[in-house]
Amino acid sequence: MLLLSPENWNDYALIDSGGFEKLERFGGYVLARPEPKAVWGKTLPPEEWQRQMHTSYTAGAGFGKAGKEDSGAWNRLKTMPGQWIIHYRKGALQFRLRLGLTAFKHVGVFPEQAPNWDYIYTAVRALETPQPKILNLFAYTGAASLAARAAGGDVTHLDAVRQVVTWARDNMETSGQGGIRWVVEDALKFVRREAKRGNRYRGIILDPPAYGHGPAGEKWKLDECLLDILQECKKILAPQDSFFVLNLYSNGFSALVADTIVTNVFGKTRDKEFGELFLCDAFGKRLPLSVFTRFKL
Ligand SMILES: C[S@@+](CC[C@H](N)C(=O)[O-])C[C@H]1O[C@@H](n2cnc3c(N)ncnc32)[C@H](O)[C@@H]1O
Repeated sequence: MLLLSPENWNDYALIDSGGFEKLERFGGYVLARPEPKAVWGKTLPPEEWQRQMHTSYTAGAGFGKAGKEDSGAWNRLKTMPGQWIIHYRKGALQFRLRLGLTAFKHVGVFPEQAPNWDYIYTAVRALETPQPKILNLFAYTGAASLAARAAGGDVTHLDAVRQVVTWARDNMETSGQGGIRWVVEDALKFVRREAKRGNRYRGIILDPPAYGHGPAGEKWKLDECLLDILQECKKILAPQDSFFVLNLYSNGFSALVADTIVTNVFGKTRDKEFGELFLCDAFGKRLPLSVFTRFKL
């Protein structure tokens, strides 16, 4: 089992964590946000958090309750813009992301995903097929899509929320990239249709939430729908010269759940690896935030 976290990322740092909160620097701005997994104590005193942070997020009444993510509020302590740009660079891979203070404590990036971006970039470059077709499902603001595109992939970026897809398009343009195909659709409905059409992809990436809705109200419930969507993905993943990445960050699923369900659906694969993605704060405290399994065919 692998334990992976972002390395040498100038524009991101987890400064401290604890007391169900995390203190992070995104570019030049320091944010405090709720973090249900940070059950340990903070290392820095509260006055030092206060001194460092530009803004902190106060969750709404329903925060943390299953399926409930009540909107909360950002309390600005220092002057900062509502939107700003950060860079991600790792070897030849680089892109830019516009961040923003959203109503649901999210800022437009999940920094713990960086090891998956690196993997995707390397996996696409290793494919023999020219301009390989890559499908990114539940793709949010598109960091993984930009990594695949930077490697020469012919990328389809799918998310159910139009504003999120527009945000991803902005990130593509801000990164000086182009040619990504944007789809606003329910992920399960889309892969079922692709399977019917006999379409094939050389790379599939999915990072589904616990709960969600398609644009036409299609219900997404991770524990009920995950097996279905993986079985449909198997029908549209090219049987050779291809790769697959599953990331899970909710329901408390362990890495073994991700690995067992993928083995159950895809059977024998090549170079399969699984594990946890975590962020490490400046004092060595490790905050696990998602699990993954990935393989090649
Ligand atoms: C946590 S985000 C994924 C983060 C992304 N992988 C990343 O690292 O940037 C989950 C995304 O799933 C989308 N979503 C929720 N339900 C969906 C559905 N039924 N079909 C497609 N996308 C959906 C949400 O809009 C959200 O952008």
